Amino acid sequence: MANLALEFCGVKFKNPVVIASIETTNSPEVIRECVDAGAGGMIIKTLTDIEDMARLTQNSKYAILNEKNEPIKGKVGKNFVFYSRSGYSSLHYTEWVPYLKELQKYAAERGSHLIGSAGGKTVQSWVDICRTIEDCGLPMVELNFGCPHPAMMPGVHGGSMIGQEPDVAAEVTRKVCEAVKIPVIVKLTPDQSRVLDVARAVKNAGASAVTATNRYTGFSVDIETGSPRLGGPAGIGGVWAKPLSLRWVHRIYTELGMPITGSNGIYDHRDVVEFIMAGAPLVQVGSVLMLKGIKYLPKIIQGLADFMDTHGYDDIDSMLGIASRRSVKDYGDQFRKARMHSEVNHETCKNPRCTICIQTCFYDALKQADDQVGSLHNNCIGCEMCVQTCPFDSISMFVTSPEQRGSGEFFNIAETVFEKEKFEKDFDRGISLARVKD
Ligand SMILES: Cc1cc2nc3c(=O)[nH]c(=O)nc-3n(C[C@H](O)[C@H](O)[C@H](O)COP(=O)(O)O)c2cc1C
Ligand code: SF4
Ligand code: SF4
Repeated sequence: MANLALEFCGVKFKNPVVIASIETTNSPEVIRECVDAGAGGMIIKTLTDIEDMARLTQNSKYAILNEKNEPIKGKVGKNFVFYSRSGYSSLHYTEWVPYLKELQKYAAERGSHLIGSAGGKTVQSWVDICRTIEDCGLPMVELNFGCPHPAMMPGVHGGSMIGQEPDVAAEVTRKVCEAVKIPVIVKLTPDQSRVLDVARAVKNAGASAVTATNRYTGFSVDIETGSPRLGGPAGIGGVWAKPLSLRWVHRIYTELGMPITGSNGIYDHRDVVEFIMAGAPLVQVGSVLMLKGIKYLPKIIQGLADFMDTHGYDDIDSMLGIASRRSVKDYGDQFRKARMHSEVNHETCKNPRCTICIQTCFYDALKQADDQVGSLHNNCIGCEMCVQTCPFDSISMFVTSPEQRGSGEFFNIAETVFEKEKFEKDFDRGISLARVKD
């Protein structure tokens, strides 16, 4: 069986699935449940000295929405949207001290870890909270520079407000790193375009790793009442956010090469695999456990193990970053690759009953010709849209030979228009290039 264990910033994890800092980890009982369910670790709900951020959690609002932006009643499927507003841990961080010690002991005895999370009022508070976390024996701490809610709390400075300013983020990180010996992870906000700059700044300030990312801020409208859901702006996430998070995992992995924990968009083991292949060996699971319960956690872990077994991955390292390393470096890479064009397999094609590829080709490269699909190769730009949409897998891509390509190294618009006229004449006579080739 695949080995799920890994080492992250010097700390050994029995598996890469960690519970994100969220309502689930706001209660000692539920943290124990997470340990019992096999979690690799649990990140405590952000510990704070900001009274309003603790009070906000006691006044949380949550909405789970479907693809029509209507409340989901009953079973929560993969395309949920979680729109919610809450704060940090409801207890003052000093009140957590006895629980932290006891829970870390409980977790460690079962091969798991309780990880700290901090969100302070002042720079000194960040330092004090992180020192407390370290003194309680927790092996690492996450700085919450990603929470979307402080920005809407008058008089509060924290979360994404810090995470949007590379210099401020670096300053807080530096002060914390000078004060504690345990690895410091910075949780990034995606509510900005400078994610990479912030990651670089906190790395230079001493952070051992980053979390990519916390959630976005949204605004959701109930069109039946003409009112904003939950009364106004709130945090928003769901699996739809995963590619947006992976964008930053990919860039941080590729450009900064620092350890990453992946967050924002995990529903099942397939999403976990995506994060790992993009470059985040440790992943955080949040909303889905709030919505489906802790009993759902072992399914994610087992699903990951099964996937690795069936796909021949021995350990997490063998999957780590493989997609990022295969990625184009820049879009110019596309021009240096061989030109491709589509070919229809008329043996399996269901035309004229099916005409899907004809509708989906934006470039007029597939046309109805008598009783079959005709290909205008010179119009084809090799976008592969038809290959993906054909329900019968009847289209394949082939490298375009220099003869097929015509003059010039690549097609250009003028050439395509010119050639199109020529080939449309062929079509009028009921001759397609594909037929000529046959
Ligand atoms: C209701 C709710 C409360 C959250 N509270 C915190 C928090 O206290 N600290 C924190 O760092 N992140 C918090 N988060 C963000 C999660 O830790 C996680 O990064 C985010 O939900 C994205 O992951 P997911 O798609 O698995 O939910 C919260 C998210 C939600 C939905
Ligand atoms: S690869 Fe793109 S351009 Fe070529 S036929 Fe298919 S959809 Fe049209
Ligand atoms: S989508 Fe596939 S089956 Fe349908 S017409 Fe095109 S090639 Fe044929």
